Amino acid sequence: MTEYTVEFVGTGETITVSDKQTILKACIEEGIAQEYSCRVGMCLACSAEILEGDVTQPAARGLTEEEAEKYALTCMARPQSDLKLDRGVYPPSIEDDAATAGTVADDD
Ligand code: FES
Repeated sequence: MTEYTVEFVGTGETITVSDKQTILKACIEEGIAQEYSCRVGMCLACSAEILEGDVTQPAARGLTEEEAEKYALTCMARPQSDLKLDRGVYPPSIEDDAATAGTVADDD
């Protein structure tokens, strides 16, 4: 087991997360208010932008392959290096979904 340092920019919060543990689980244990909902990699509520470092998140089904290089779904992501993350930053696809929903609702 290897442990990595995960820093959340803008909050001053830094935690240690093992490569066997999800970042969300470590946040919950450390009392960090990381948002989440489904905890199965689908809803994107737990998204964070990866500013530095690498994660493994093969079960992050809510992200495209391209998005998975820039964003971590913390409920699925395990660190592969020290990380700097910006919590509460969402991939562009979530914005597209919101825009589409608005268009459908505005049909007259
Ligand atoms: S909590 Fe839903 S994707 Fe992580």
